[in-house]
Amino acid sequence: MTPDYDLLARQLEALLDTRDWLTNSAQTSAFLMQAVPDLNWVGFYLQRQPELLSLGPFQGKPACHPIPFDKGVCGAAARSRQTQRIDDVHAVADHIACDAASSAELVVPIVTANRLWGVLDLDSPLKHRFNEADQTGIERLTAVFVASSDLT
Ligand code: SME
Repeated sequence: MTPDYDLLARQLEALLDTRDWLTNSAQTSAFLMQAVPDLNWVGFYLQRQPELLSLGPFQGKPACHPIPFDKGVCGAAARSRQTQRIDDVHAVADHIACDAASSAELVVPIVTANRLWGVLDLDSPLKHRFNEADQTGIERLTAVFVASSDLT
């Protein structure tokens, strides 16, 4: 179930052949949806106003927008600037349920020049979907996105 993240990092590096963050975030979400098993949603939320996350490029069902920093798993990632790995979102009191099918969630903050640029959010219909290797792997793929893109 855990994909070969070394291989995925090389493939993503090759795919992101522009510096444009919009193109790269669209490509990254589509790539992750294809390459990582058992996801029902993957996408970016961007901080375009203070303390507020706006929905960016994603794959999956239409999603919640906007998300304030003080709400949900994405808000916790934005506030703390720490990856949030949740085995069962239904056990998290302020989880924001965009899609009832989602059970596990992994949210990686994206920080550039000491500013929270946004977060990358992955949802799975399987409880306990994301283990430590997935967290490290997705953080690495997020770093590939950051290194490949001009984030404004
Ligand atoms: N569940 C998230 C909201 C975003 S969706 O999963 C796409 C949260 O609690 O922040």
